[in-house]
Amino acid sequence: MIFEQLNPHACRTYLIGDEKSRETILVDPVLEHVEDYLKTLDQRKLTLTHVIDTHTHADHISGGAALKDETDCQYAMHHKAPARCVTVHLTDGFACRLGNIPVKVMTTPGHTKDSVALVFEDRVLTGDVLFLDEAGAGRTDLPGGDPGEHWDSMQRVLGLPDHLIVYPAHEYRGRQPSSLKDQKLRNPNLKPRTKQEYIDYLEGLTLGPADWMKEVLKANYACARDPKAAWIPVDVPACEVKGTLDIGANDQQVTGIPVEEVSHKLAAGVSLFLLDVRDLHELSGELGHITGVTNIPVTTLSHRLSELETHRDREIVAICKAGGRAHTAAQILMQAGFSKVQVMMGGMQGWKQAGFPTEA
Ligand SMILES: [Fe+2]
Repeated sequence: MIFEQLNPHACRTYLIGDEKSRETILVDPVLEHVEDYLKTLDQRKLTLTHVIDTHTHADHISGGAALKDETDCQYAMHHKAPARCVTVHLTDGFACRLGNIPVKVMTTPGHTKDSVALVFEDRVLTGDVLFLDEAGAGRTDLPGGDPGEHWDSMQRVLGLPDHLIVYPAHEYRGRQPSSLKDQKLRNPNLKPRTKQEYIDYLEGLTLGPADWMKEVLKANYACARDPKAAWIPVDVPACEVKGTLDIGANDQQVTGIPVEEVSHKLAAGVSLFLLDVRDLHELSGELGHITGVTNIPVTTLSHRLSELETHRDREIVAICKAGGRAHTAAQILMQAGFSKVQVMMGGMQGWKQAGFPTEA
């Protein structure tokens, strides 16, 4: 079995193929990466038979419609999926084989009406119905979401074999897929609760604004082929489900510091700890980085807090491209007890625009 996750960011796209027949499916492809997927399929001599979206996405535009146009593949989704370009409608319990690989569909509404999980012999692709560890699960406050239905789906997930490895549709903090048995211990959404307790728990989560997500849903309903069909905030963890940061992290009020003030303080010799939370390759990219930064990508920050222990009392400035990831990083740090944390407003884009020096 060929099994790979293709995306460099938090939205996960899984390529699953049969080594012998070369038949391949893509699960939850992202429109902006369609060209890369096609190249990968071509280079590996894989035949794309199906694209499957585990649900109508609210945080990115699906590559399903474009891949269907570019290849002979079928586009499969839950039978309640509103997108008209879908060619195969999945129902609960539908079982088939990908080459030699058996796979079964389990409907899992709650995050959306049209959510499905794909159950293989050794793993389960959970879409947004279940994330990893403290990330919990996808929000249930978007159109079609329903906390009660989500509880029902959780019971179905709990009924799956313990050995299945959980592969969610999003992962922001470098958590590694682990077994359903582990998730039963670590995932707050799988804690034993009555339905009412579960609904109360979900409704008590602090969730971020979702208006832009409703526009993305509409673009996916309309089978958009243009990555600009809906506005998705630049450089924020777009797939982030607010409410899935460590308990309480969402409540942290973050303050910003203008680039001019950062520059002024550095020139005045103030001992700022500059924490650049972009991916390493971005530091040598077009925007460069500020001399002396420490790089810890936001996706790994939760696991690397010990590296910052000796700087706990310093003034920390979180930096990214435009401010989105730095905001998340600041929330994580503040939740962990770092008290002097600020976000550099406008990020490296703002820094460069203001004409301050960078290193490549
Ligand atoms: Fe989602």
